[in-house]
Order: sequence, then structure tokens, then C-alpha cells
Amino acid sequence: MQKIQERLRALKEREKAVILAHYYAPDAVQAIADRVGDSYYLAKEAAKTQAETIVFCGVHFMGESAKILNPGKRVLMPDLSADCPMAHMASAEQIAALKREVGDLAVVCYINSTAELKAMSDVCVTSSNAVKIVRALKEQNILFIPDQNLGSFVAEKVPEKHFYFSGGYCPVHASLLAADVAAEKAAHPQAEVLTHPECTEEVRALSDFIGSTAEIIARARESAAREFIVCTEPGVLYELKNSCPDKHFIPVSMACADMKKNTLERVLECLETGAGEVVTDAAKAESARRPLERMLELAK
Ligand code: 13P
Ligand code: SF4
Repeated sequence: MQKIQERLRALKEREKAVILAHYYAPDAVQAIADRVGDSYYLAKEAAKTQAETIVFCGVHFMGESAKILNPGKRVLMPDLSADCPMAHMASAEQIAALKREVGDLAVVCYINSTAELKAMSDVCVTSSNAVKIVRALKEQNILFIPDQNLGSFVAEKVPEKHFYFSGGYCPVHASLLAADVAAEKAAHPQAEVLTHPECTEEVRALSDFIGSTAEIIARARESAAREFIVCTEPGVLYELKNSCPDKHFIPVSMACADMKKNTLERVLECLETGAGEVVTDAAKAESARRPLERMLELAK
């Protein structure tokens, strides 16, 4: 480990690089990253960094958003094939058709989406700012893409608006079963249930707290409870255990295979060779930047 740390330090210095990692990245990568956070925090960090190279340990839409927000920087991803399946679960045709049909409509795009989808949208959101941003929009009608589960969570919180959805979902969070959560609740009656809003309505209904990965971690730190059933990708347990060593965490979700592609070996390799550079089409990036910057503005 000592050797790896030294090699990493030298490579980071040589490449003037900063390493950003999502809470779902492997533990070993969270341990060496300069910044670890949720999607919103990482987007802000990517937009403001002074480093010349950003190594983004996440999935493709995250590296792509970093490049779009900070086009002058080189963005490397340890594995360019790490992709979020949900990012593709809406289509240009769907959006165009609804825009023709419905007036007073804002297209709200979860940051877990391709640059093409962002470019057709009015504003981007993440799970930690979606409610605040949708509430602030002047439009009465909202097309929320691509995540139907996060969308329905926002719709519950903003009942004064009318919502349309594209039907997308996170295969990891959507496969988390209410029956499994109920079984853990029965086995641990004192436990608080902490849930990501990408989970289904049935799972959310069994929960004590719903929030982004960063919000789940903050809640566990502040709560008086000693036990927590964690309804999100188990990568968050690394930070949960580090920041709350005296509390007990019970994971119920499967892991995100794409996030786990960000191995420590791949981080070193991309810094060493420059492999995995994120390249964006300039015109597409220009159109996708506007909704991303609007998100950063409205979420402040
Ligand atoms: P947050 O980072 O907003 O918690 O979202 C989790 C996620 O699924 C990222 O892909
Ligand atoms: Fe996409 Fe779900 Fe993996 Fe997040 S956890 S990257 S939303 S598949």
C-alpha cells in the first residue's frame, strides 16, 4: 500500500491531477481519492477545480458532466466502459413529442443522463437538489427524465405541479425489494431505514429517511439510532463505518457493477498512460452545459 501511495502521489504531481470518487466507488479508491462525495458535490468540485487533470472515479455521465462543466481540463476515467444504464432511458422523440403536446412544460433531467438528453432539457438536477430546483421552476408541467422513481419522489414533495415521466430506473435501486427491507426491519426493530430516492415507492414507504448518498451519511451521523438499514448501493458503507464507527449498518442493496470498475489499478494506469480520456462533441457539450450550470445556480 505504501508503494502504491507513493506512486500515486508522484503521478498526481506529474499530471497536476485531482482524484474525484463517488461513494459507490470501491473502498480502496475512496481511500486514496482527494474528494469523495455524491453526484452534486462532485459536479461542483469538477466545475471549480484548479487541477489540470480530473480523474473521475464514477460512471460515464459523471466524467462527461465534469468535462462539459470544465472544458479546459483533461478528464480521465479509470474505465471508460463504466456506464449508468439509466442514463439512456429516455429518448429525444419522447421529449420532442411531449413538448409538442403540453404547454408550460419544463424538461428536468436527472444528471444520470447522456449529454444528448441534457442538451434537450431546461435544467439538470441530482438527488440532493431535485426537490428544491423543481419547486423553483416557473413552469406548471414537468417532464422528469430519466428516473421515474426519483421523479415520483419529487412529485410527492411538489404536489402543486403536474409530472410526466420517461419510465427509466436504476437497475440497482429498483431491484431492491420491499420484502427484503421488511424482513430486516422485523429482525432489527430499532433500526432506522435510510433510503435513496432511486428506490421504488414501496421501499420508500418503509423508510424513516430518504435522501442522496451524502444526505444518508449526514443523517446516520446525526441520528441517535444505533442501527441502520441502508437502502442504497453498499459502497456508502465505507464512509458510514468510517464516520460512525460505533454504529451498525445493514446493507440490503446489490452493488453497482459499473461503479466497481473503478479499481485502484485502473486509477494508476489512467494516470500513468493518459488512457480513458473523456471526449465530448463541442456543439453537444455547449448545449448540455446550460442545464448543468442552471442546476449549479438554482441549487445554491
Ligand atoms: P447521488 O450521488 O446523488 O446520491 O446519486 C446516486 C447515484 O446513483 C449515482 O449514480
Ligand atoms: Fe446508475 Fe444505479 Fe449504478 Fe447509480 S447505482 S450508476 S444510478 S446503475
